[in-house]
Amino acid sequence: MSDHAPNQTEANRAHFNEAASSYNNRFEKTILQIIHEIQERREWLGVDWVEDSSEDESSTSNSKGATRPVRLLDYACGTGLVSRALAPYVSQCVGIDLTEGMAAEYNKSMENQGIPASEMFAHVGNLIDPSDPSPAAFTGPEFHDFDIAAVGLGFHHFDNPALAAKRLAERLKPGGVLFIIDFQPHEHVHGHHHAAEKSVTHMGFSEVDIKKMFEEAGVGKGFEHVVVGKGIVITDKSDKMKTVTREVFMARGSKL
Ligand SMILES: C[S@@+](CC[C@H](N)C(=O)[O-])C[C@H]1O[C@@H](n2cnc3c(N)ncnc32)[C@H](O)[C@@H]1O
Repeated sequence: MSDHAPNQTEANRAHFNEAASSYNNRFEKTILQIIHEIQERREWLGVDWVEDSSEDESSTSNSKGATRPVRLLDYACGTGLVSRALAPYVSQCVGIDLTEGMAAEYNKSMENQGIPASEMFAHVGNLIDPSDPSPAAFTGPEFHDFDIAAVGLGFHHFDNPALAAKRLAERLKPGGVLFIIDFQPHEHVHGHHHAAEKSVTHMGFSEVDIKKMFEEAGVGKGFEHVVVGKGIVITDKSDKMKTVTREVFMARGSKL
């Protein structure tokens, strides 16, 4: 637990609701870079993606041509970075985000592309409230038995990432994959505006810490951790194109 509790959720809500409408534009380059890095590692993720299906082409398919369900839970989905990266390989993306603003941006961009809500839709919610282990809105089968649950750059905003790993693991089907993208340990960089700074709880994560979280959540099978290339260049268009280079890791593990 960080020492940011108990108002961390409110700090995140305030910051990301405010940031939502400009997020895609501000971080456009960074988003495209991370989407590329995820797609490069899709085999490594070890999910039986839709395009690997050997099923009969004449069977019923959805608008993406998927003939069997392969379902992604994109947690802390924001405007939909991870969904955009993995959409070509799954039949359905279910986003969940704490903020109305981010979920609305996600849904607006899917609607603009003519993607039906049955295939990509973001809900507003919080699965990692310690006082609410099973939020009523998320008890249905459509929120369980995922093939992959992912968090893109969300862990460093959570009070308790280990609890997040556990709660997400519960949503996976046996053999399902937990996939985390976040920062390697780094120094605290001053200069972020105040609201953004308050929304950060962790200055990155070591491989040892992440592995422990996966194991304790029951998703340690085949655990792998990679540090992405030479780092991700974070360019903020709204801040005089300020650029920070951060080392980003990707970690995956399967549910036992
Ligand atoms: C840095 S953004 C990343 C968004 C997106 N995954 C991406 O990679 O662009 C962090 C996101 O985490 C969401 N968030 C923060 N705390 C959360 C929580 N407890 N539950 C769900 N989402 C949360 C924020 O609203 C925000 O959209």
